[in-house]
Amino acid sequence: ALLNEAERIAREFEYPAEEVKRGVEEYIRQSNEGLAKENATLSQIPTFVTAVPNGTEKGLYLAVDLGGTNFRVCSVQLHGDTTFSLTQSKIMIPRELMASGTSKELFLFLARQIEAFLRIHHNEHFEAHLRRRRDGNTIEDLFDLGFTFSFPVRQFGINSGTLIRWTKGFNIPDAVGQDVCALLQSAIDELNLPVRVAALVNDTVGTLMARSYTSPGETGTLLGAIFGTGTNGAYVEKLEKVTKLKDMKDAQYDTSTGEMIINAEWGSFDNHMSVLPDTVYDRELDADSNNPGVQMFEKRVSGMFLGEILRRALLSLHNNPEFGLFKSSQNSSVSIPSDSLFYRQWGLDTSLLSQVEADTSKDFTEVKAALKDHLNIEKPSNAECQAVKTIVHAIGKRAARLSAVAIAAVLIHTGKLETENMVDVGVDGSLVEFYPKFEDYIREAMREIPQVGVAGEKKVRIGISKDGSGVGAALIALVASKDDTMKT
Ligand code: BG6
Ligand code: GLC
Repeated sequence: ALLNEAERIAREFEYPAEEVKRGVEEYIRQSNEGLAKENATLSQIPTFVTAVPNGTEKGLYLAVDLGGTNFRVCSVQLHGDTTFSLTQSKIMIPRELMASGTSKELFLFLARQIEAFLRIHHNEHFEAHLRRRRDGNTIEDLFDLGFTFSFPVRQFGINSGTLIRWTKGFNIPDAVGQDVCALLQSAIDELNLPVRVAALVNDTVGTLMARSYTSPGETGTLLGAIFGTGTNGAYVEKLEKVTKLKDMKDAQYDTSTGEMIINAEWGSFDNHMSVLPDTVYDRELDADSNNPGVQMFEKRVSGMFLGEILRRALLSLHNNPEFGLFKSSQNSSVSIPSDSLFYRQWGLDTSLLSQVEADTSKDFTEVKAALKDHLNIEKPSNAECQAVKTIVHAIGKRAARLSAVAIAAVLIHTGKLETENMVDVGVDGSLVEFYPKFEDYIREAMREIPQVGVAGEKKVRIGISKDGSGVGAALIALVASKDDTMKT
């Protein structure tokens, strides 16, 4: 009975070819709408970055990165020959700063991490700067910093933009509507650091830039996408298609390439739920989240949410006495303490899904290890392991097939599949990196889309741009500071 019910739940997550096709058509419609007007469900944010790098860029830049699993500070030396050296420090943002503090506290925390990084890795420069300041010497020897801020921001130029809304569990209300570059710069100035915030970058844009720097091809990279805590994509669009730019009269940008990178913010694709698949677990997750009704695509695709979808599905098997999953009874020898993460919202991490999906053993070795590691569950029965595995697989596969919708829609919308022999996509994030076969499932779904097909899918080159956004941010800081215009 348990296995039948697990299979029934898994079927709720099926996302067949017909639906994928409908999703792609709707994505293309919504993306055109987003290019034409503000406040569409797909934000399609102009980034004012009008070219991608070609691998010859040079220099030393700082970058900070807020919005993924870790906060990072890095310095990037671009060697100008498609290679770079990166020095970085990573830390987790304390939970209380993410969701209960003020923007001042958060940004001062970031500035303090920058200070610690400079002290460790660039102390000579730092000390020399302080000495010159003390002597009243005003020579500018500031580090240019690219700020990767992976949240929806309405950009006004390459180094300014206001936060539209928080996503991925962050919630600091006083920051909404403020210029996040200015917030970071004032925290930096408060600590007297020799740093100028030169560019504001979404992680997808950074990923696109980094991928383009490291593997410049004839056609360049078309799309940078993140499948991690959140999901989103940035792509190269023709300027003439970004018709809402005419309403942004004050914005200054270089028009010579005829292109601009657009941050789609596809996490909010179809917030009004016209085509997205929906189960009772999705609905409950959304209703109990701190941003109901938005990021509806992201809530079905990305790492922050898959564990919670799974937890809710498993709870339904646990709470129903007929199935009694993990409920000490004649069916199960597991007993879960009442303070277990199993009962806590967001208690299950997506790495649990990756570990379960990786199990190819006959006796559920990996599933058992995952249940032990994440939930301290000992001695689950084989039927229980199979039930978990079946549901995990269904949730992960739906996420990958939905990801295919967004990627394919961008490829079709830009027409590149028809005009090019190869289309390059740079990706990053814990889901695409660690969830077994995530890319394979994406590719399988892409082949089912009529405008892509087997031939189109073969043209798509997908490459991980690991930690790419730091390098990308450095590249954009370079453009912004030197106006060393990059050519596509
Ligand atoms: C990192 C990038 O490698 O991946 C970040 O540097 C990005 O900018 C992150 O946000 C996404 O992955 P995750 O899994 O950390 O959210
Ligand atoms: C969320 C953010 C978006 C970011 C993505 C991946 O969707 O809104 O800006 O790119 O997560 O980190």
